[in-house]
Order: sequence, then structure tokens, then C-alpha cells
Amino acid sequence: MPLFSQSTPEWGGFFCIQNLFPHVKANYDVLLANREETIESQIKWLNYIKIGTDRMAKLINDLLSLAQMEDMSFEIQKVPFNISNAIHDVILSMEAAMTDKKIQLTCSIEPDVMVKSDPERIKQVITILFENAVKYTDEKGKIDLSLKKSKRHIVFSIKNSGKGIAKQDLPKIFDRFYRADPSRTQETDGYGLGLSIAKAIIERLGGEIRAESVENEYAAFTWTLGL
Ligand SMILES: Nc1ncnc2c1ncn2[C@@H]1O[C@H](COP(=O)(O)OP(=O)(O)O)[C@@H](O)[C@H]1O
Ligand SMILES: [Mg+2]
Repeated sequence: MPLFSQSTPEWGGFFCIQNLFPHVKANYDVLLANREETIESQIKWLNYIKIGTDRMAKLINDLLSLAQMEDMSFEIQKVPFNISNAIHDVILSMEAAMTDKKIQLTCSIEPDVMVKSDPERIKQVITILFENAVKYTDEKGKIDLSLKKSKRHIVFSIKNSGKGIAKQDLPKIFDRFYRADPSRTQETDGYGLGLSIAKAIIERLGGEIRAESVENEYAAFTWTLGL
């Protein structure tokens, strides 16, 4: 049995990973061939190496996150924390990216909602969904974010305007390495791991996550967690 079938998204992901190493090595070889040159004149190749190694580091961290969440012997530490503040922290970290794309953000976050969960993992999920919303919305697009609390649950949702997700892709976007619309995703970096990590975390924390979309209008992601 082959490790990956060439028709699956896993093969696509494996292919990308395989390509990263020769890419970094090729840039390194250029530097070695020009060892008499100044660092300044070779900065382009150094920057390519930095981009390649940053991507490798992110990929390795993503794969570790996924493996940890799927390892039932890995213990999750749940502590009470203010999730409203955690969301505001993530928004702050995304401000520069939103300004760059002239994105209009609308928030409706119930203040001081307390949950008992894993604060770092929850922030990771919010960041994954927020980064996608910014990445896949158009210039001057809109993002709506909300947090609501009911008696037993919290409901987080994030919606972005733009191309959305085609009906046939919707059931697959939480699969690891799956990226819809290759013509568009090739322009943006990533390996199709974000949503599979978000799903693994939310389910491991006892919640549920779902996506909905109307093509050429919006994509929306909602997760719920027990209080
Ligand atoms: N907010 C969104 N709007 C439109 N498409 C999205 C959105 N979020 C995710 N997608 C689609 O789902 C795919 C998987 O997302 P993800 O797992 O985060 O991987 P990546 O962002 O690295 O491609 C994306 O490639 C994209 O096709
Ligand atoms: Mg992503």
C-alpha cells in the first residue's frame, strides 16, 4: 500500500513538503557559489531561505498540533479564562493584515464571557479562522465576528465576504491538506492544514465546528463549546 494515493489531498501536501527542501537548498547553493560577494548583494537569496525555513517551521508546528490533538493520551489542561478578552487579543494581532487589505471588521462580542477550556488552543482556533477570513476575502472585503453565550454553550462565528466555498468543496475543507480552488490557493501560502487543526482542537475540547457558504457571497465558520 502506498503511503499516499496520488489522487488524494495528502499527496498534494506531501508533494509541497517534498518541494520545500530542494527550494531552500537551491538558494543556499547560490550563496555558496558566490562566497566572495557581500551579504548585502546576496540578500535576495537569504530572504528566500528565510521564507522557506519559516514555512518549514510552521508546517512542522502544524503537524505536531494535529498529532497532539489526535493523541488521546495527550492531556489537555482546562482552566477558566475570559474568552471575550482572548478574542480581542487575536483581533489586535490581525489588525495590520486587515489594514493592508482595507478590510472592514464588525464585531459583536459579548463581554467577559468565562469558559473552562484550553486558552492557548482556543486562541489557535480563532487565529486559524481569522487568518483564513483575511486571506480569502477580497480587498475591501468584510469580516463579521461574533461571540454569544447561552445557558449552556458559547457560540463563536466568523463570516467573510468574497468568493466563498463551492458546494462540492464544503464537505472536504476540514480534511487535512485539502485546499479548494487550486487557481486561487496557489497565490496564497498554506498547506490546507489549518481547518483540520481547528476541527481536531474543537472536537477534542468537546465542541462542534461547521462551515457554510454561498458561493461568490460569503464563507462562515461557527463553533460551539459547552460552558
Ligand atoms: N474563510 C474562507 N473563505 C473561503 N475559503 C476558505 C475559507 N477558509 C478556508 N477556505 C478554503 O478551505 C481550504 C482549507 O483551509 P485551511 O485548512 O485553513 O488551509 P489553507 O488556508 O492553508 O489553504 C482553503 O484552501 C480554502 O480553499
Ligand atoms: Mg488556512
